[in-house]
Amino acid sequence: MDETRNIVILTGAGISAESGIDTFRGGGGLWEQHRVEDVATPEAFARDPNLVLRFYDMRREAIQTKRPNPAHDALARLDANWKGGLLIVTQNVDDLHERAGAPYGIEPRVLHMHGEHLNAWCTFCDARSRWSGPLADRPECPRCGARALRPDVVWFGEMPYRMDEIHAALRMADLFVSIGTSGAVYPAAGFVQTARDLGVETLELNLERSQGSHWFHETRLGPAGELVPAWVDEVLAG
Ligand code: OAD
Repeated sequence: MDETRNIVILTGAGISAESGIDTFRGGGGLWEQHRVEDVATPEAFARDPNLVLRFYDMRREAIQTKRPNPAHDALARLDANWKGGLLIVTQNVDDLHERAGAPYGIEPRVLHMHGEHLNAWCTFCDARSRWSGPLADRPECPRCGARALRPDVVWFGEMPYRMDEIHAALRMADLFVSIGTSGAVYPAAGFVQTARDLGVETLELNLERSQGSHWFHETRLGPAGELVPAWVDEVLAG
């Protein structure tokens, strides 16, 4: 592929599955173990903040014990070597794309549209702070001192982040690639349709057919840890 072309990549929970982080849907998924309405909505937080904060404290602690897998590594390798435009839009709230970039000395071109586990958001002063510890014990905001920190994670019913930037990147894209996402949650699930409308080539890499598979020009099925490195080799080979 011509190295000046622009690539937009969407990643979902499937890319982190081989790192040992639970996906959301399907057998054993996170939403089978917990009801979305109990832990992942603004209403749940208003009703029972302790339950919600403890849930995210556990998740925040867990992701810090996980490591990037060959799929994250391959995207970081692409990022380090790709001369054209590249944007990795992730629905994931883990930091595995960033950590995979570290050996290359790069800060990967990653946008977290559903927020980040390792950020706390002060609902009093609106500051975001890097945060690796618990929030359930109501620590003070490092900026304003208020005890009003919540996870900086987008809940159902809230607006995903940085949609303007994502749409601007899609308008400039030559290739849109979706990796490890079920296509169940909009607006991310609609990016492939937007890309198609704009005449962008589209490729899906997923363990199984997703709800949106029929939209893609090509779908490759298999584990991300195998498919993504092979695809990156192909792209970098030109
Ligand atoms: P899902 O759990 O809905 O889907 C994960 C997808 O990854 C499925 O299609 C699996 O088949 C696939 N998969 C699983 N293991 C894989 C592997 N090893 N290699 C490749 N693919 C694999 O997760 P998302 O699509 O990311 O949002 O979910 C989207 C959003 O729904 C999440 O960001 C989260 C969730 O509720 C919010 O919390 C707002």
